[in-house]
Amino acid sequence: MLISLQNISKNYQNPGSGLWQEVLTDISLEINPGDSLAIAGPSGSGKSTLLNIIGTLDRPGKGTVSFDGTDINAFSENQLAAFRNRHIGFVFQQHYLLPQLSLLENVLLPVIPVKDKKLRNEATARATKLLDEVGLAGKMHHLPGQLSGGECQRGAVVRAMINEPGVILADEPTGSLDQTSAEQIGELLSEINKKNKVSLILVTHSEKLAAKMSQIYHILEGRLCKL
Ligand SMILES: Nc1ncnc2c1ncn2[C@@H]1O[C@H](COP(=O)(O)OP(=O)(O)OP(=O)(O)O)[C@@H](O)[C@H]1O
Ligand SMILES: [Mg+2]
Repeated sequence: MLISLQNISKNYQNPGSGLWQEVLTDISLEINPGDSLAIAGPSGSGKSTLLNIIGTLDRPGKGTVSFDGTDINAFSENQLAAFRNRHIGFVFQQHYLLPQLSLLENVLLPVIPVKDKKLRNEATARATKLLDEVGLAGKMHHLPGQLSGGECQRGAVVRAMINEPGVILADEPTGSLDQTSAEQIGELLSEINKKNKVSLILVTHSEKLAAKMSQIYHILEGRLCKL
């Protein structure tokens, strides 16, 4: 999936002073299938804002975001939600697994809108295989509270992969993990990117993780600069 950002700007109004702040200024970027990008920059520089715009969770003030040539600005909220669920995998700093569901049920959450029984069965088989590949075969029926932080995050990566997205967006995916688990998640995301040709865009403060990506960008004063 080719993702294209053209002249994106984003303003936010300060809820206290009412003043507008330009967080992103005239950002253009093309992401080809299989690309891997790290986005770094100081706290508050707009990294999550940019990732949320790419992920269609937020709309730009100016500019266009298109996927395979389709400008998604005209999409309704429902169309966007369906598009996002089908084509974009998200991983955040927190795993956001639902505490009352098993790991397997959590991984299958993005499959809920799928009504076709055959496709659902295929997704379950895929979930089992992916969980096995990340070393969680024996823990599929555990609740998140019965798993370690690193195991939950591996589960969250599998959930992001379940609908075979064209791109994975990861916002500080290793930010709440110890060094060993962080390295495992970094390795896992990189492997998925290389093996499955899924594009990977990740925001990170870790230079080690950023170095695994083929392109490194910084956001400085609202502008995206390539290192
Ligand atoms: N909904 C909002 N309303 C007003 N201002 C906002 C809103 N969301 C973000 N901001 C502001 O936009 C700026 C960029 O926020 P963003 O979350 O993108 O930063 P970040 O680079 O991800 O920072 P961090 O590394 O701390 O996660 C911040 O100054 C923040 O206060
Ligand atoms: Mg952020």
